[in-house]
Amino acid sequence: MIETTVRKQYDHLASVYDQRWKSYIADTLSFLKTWAEISPLDIVLDVACGTGEFERLLLTENSTQSIVGVDISDKMLAIAKQKCSVYTQVLFYTASASALPFDNNSFDVIVSANSFHYFDDPLAALIEMKRVLKPDGKVVIIDWCKDYLFCKVLDITLKIFDPAYQQCYTQNEFHGLLTSANFAVSRATKVRFGVFWGLMAATASLQD
Ligand SMILES: C[S@@+](CC[C@H](N)C(=O)[O-])C[C@H]1O[C@@H](n2cnc3c(N)ncnc32)[C@H](O)[C@@H]1O
Repeated sequence: MIETTVRKQYDHLASVYDQRWKSYIADTLSFLKTWAEISPLDIVLDVACGTGEFERLLLTENSTQSIVGVDISDKMLAIAKQKCSVYTQVLFYTASASALPFDNNSFDVIVSANSFHYFDDPLAALIEMKRVLKPDGKVVIIDWCKDYLFCKVLDITLKIFDPAYQQCYTQNEFHGLLTSANFAVSRATKVRFGVFWGLMAATASLQD
């Protein structure tokens, strides 16, 4: 139900998304690229990849990186596919974060950026990520952090005015979700982007 609303919203936004959020996307995804420490041979899954900006960024550094992107918005994916059309090792699929169309143990690194606050079942999404992650792989997630006042206010406002929005989390709540999905957080931070936005990033791997 909520996914249908999110899909419609992003299908509608797709043509203006890159331009409207240009500096936010550039700042957060450059941070993610540095933070994630992806090595050239890693097979990467990007959950809720949007218009493929993270893929474009990774490919500027390593044009042979194997990347798979999934998103529920076909229109966002159409832009991603266009941007990456010359890279045959980069694939995009329409799929929900909570039903990933991949075999178990498929990916070395799973990233998800700026999207966790849309997931109506974040635990199901994390459990799916765990299933498709290789045993020695890692997930790297970056999203809004409710420890920051601006995000707290935005959380209240968007819950009232934006039917696609689900919720954002405090760092504690977020780590609690990761732990519930049997991930162990190995590295975490909170970081400001611009004057207002406060995000958190976490790298986690499968618990022994
Ligand atoms: C703010 S955009 C972020 C896109 C990209 N990761 C970036 O940082 O530019 C949020 C994206 O999440 C996608 N999305 C939201 N809920 C999803 C879900 N449950 N499964 C897959 N994609 C989802 C939306 O369609 C949209 O493309």
